[in-house]
Amino acid sequence: MEDLLTKEYHTCFIDGDFIQPEGKEQPHLSSVDGKAWTKLYLGAEENVTAALKALTTPSKSAYERADYLHRMGDFLEQHKEAIAKIITTEMGKVITQSLSEVDYAISYFRWFAEEAKRVYDSVIPSHVPDKTIQTQTVPIGPCFITTPWNFPLAMGARKIAPAIAAGCPVIARPSSFTPVSLLVLGHAAKYAGLPAGSLAILIGKNENISVLLMQSPLIKKFSFTGSTEIGTRLYQQGAVTLKKASLELGGNAPFLVFDDVDVKKVAEHAAIAKFRNNGQTCICPNRFLVQRAVYEPFIQAFKDHVKRFYIGDPFDSKTQISTALHPTSKDKIQGHKSDALEKGARPILIENEPYKPQILSDITPEMRIFKEETFGPLAGIMPFDTLDEGLTFANQTIHGLASYVFTNDLRRAKKAIQDLNFGIIGLNDSSPSSAEMPFGGLKASGFGIEGGPRGIYEYLTQKAISTYVS
Ligand code: SIN
Repeated sequence: MEDLLTKEYHTCFIDGDFIQPEGKEQPHLSSVDGKAWTKLYLGAEENVTAALKALTTPSKSAYERADYLHRMGDFLEQHKEAIAKIITTEMGKVITQSLSEVDYAISYFRWFAEEAKRVYDSVIPSHVPDKTIQTQTVPIGPCFITTPWNFPLAMGARKIAPAIAAGCPVIARPSSFTPVSLLVLGHAAKYAGLPAGSLAILIGKNENISVLLMQSPLIKKFSFTGSTEIGTRLYQQGAVTLKKASLELGGNAPFLVFDDVDVKKVAEHAAIAKFRNNGQTCICPNRFLVQRAVYEPFIQAFKDHVKRFYIGDPFDSKTQISTALHPTSKDKIQGHKSDALEKGARPILIENEPYKPQILSDITPEMRIFKEETFGPLAGIMPFDTLDEGLTFANQTIHGLASYVFTNDLRRAKKAIQDLNFGIIGLNDSSPSSAEMPFGGLKASGFGIEGGPRGIYEYLTQKAISTYVS
């Protein structure tokens, strides 16, 4: 697997193998040093046609599909270090977090290998004597999935593993920024002996791949993780051929801290959650809402913790904050920071380099940092007084992916769970995601559940059989 890092070029994975290089190659730059580290041969219309033509059901046996998935997980396990290096090279997250991402991806293969065998049907009593009603759960059909750059392997695993578990062939298109991290799953599929045509990975431009697949009547379902704007556009495109959709469209997570907690401990959890992947995570806290009595102590403890982060070379295992940041993150961070400062935010920790953690307090709902997802290492903190006020601020967003509540008061916790309009709630838990945890948003954060017991059902549909025997 080490040779993937030094491989001269990468091509699309179609019909069980990597295709021969064709056309003009393009240099692929490392996010860490900006240098070309390999070349890409991007897919074109004929590759989409070939992938569609090759589509093959992974296996009719749930037990066989489970075996393929376990073997794909084994492959990732065996090459964990090399794959982590690819992720860091490609998108710049620190190596310890790339290693965790490989583990996270493996957990989806393991989870859905087991879920493949746990899809049951029912027999429903009919009100008509001599009639029997039964259900038969069946794969929805070929799926198209697109994956984001911030978790380039794990988000692929979170979509590909349930599709295969359900018995659906998949065509995947990775972000143009991180194609090689997803192509790893082509190698895993080959190793696992996954039937050719059950998985294709097409690297290339949106207009040459996604647009064509979204038009194809052969594709019955698509799953997308990314911005609300692009997700909405894809949903409109998919409507023409009535594709089922799963959309994970980012968030603007509130992190509520009540005055009954151990402030230092919560501030540490808050800092780790906020600056995971340099703040470039859909479920990262975006707005810290802190009850007035612990507001200043929280700011101080949060700052103290953040200042202890080791910032540096993402390949160094000591590093907690990477010097590499996505090119589009920089402008947004700067924009949110200057807007907030102009509107009266208090600078707590300010840096010139956008990859370094920064903190502003006294933010208000009028500021961009409150209204929009920053997707970078800039934290905004604001006070609230009552439970109702905190929850109102928390819900004051079009998004509804993740939210966090820290309290030891059962009454507050109960009310927060009831009122928070978010698909994911971390109650005294700053890292809620795992393969077994249902992951999905409400409102402008989209719909559909990934992972958890229902994740496989996104790729299944049902027939109902009514039998009359007199
Ligand atoms: C994401 O940023 O969408 C994924 C984060 C996670 O699964 O924890």
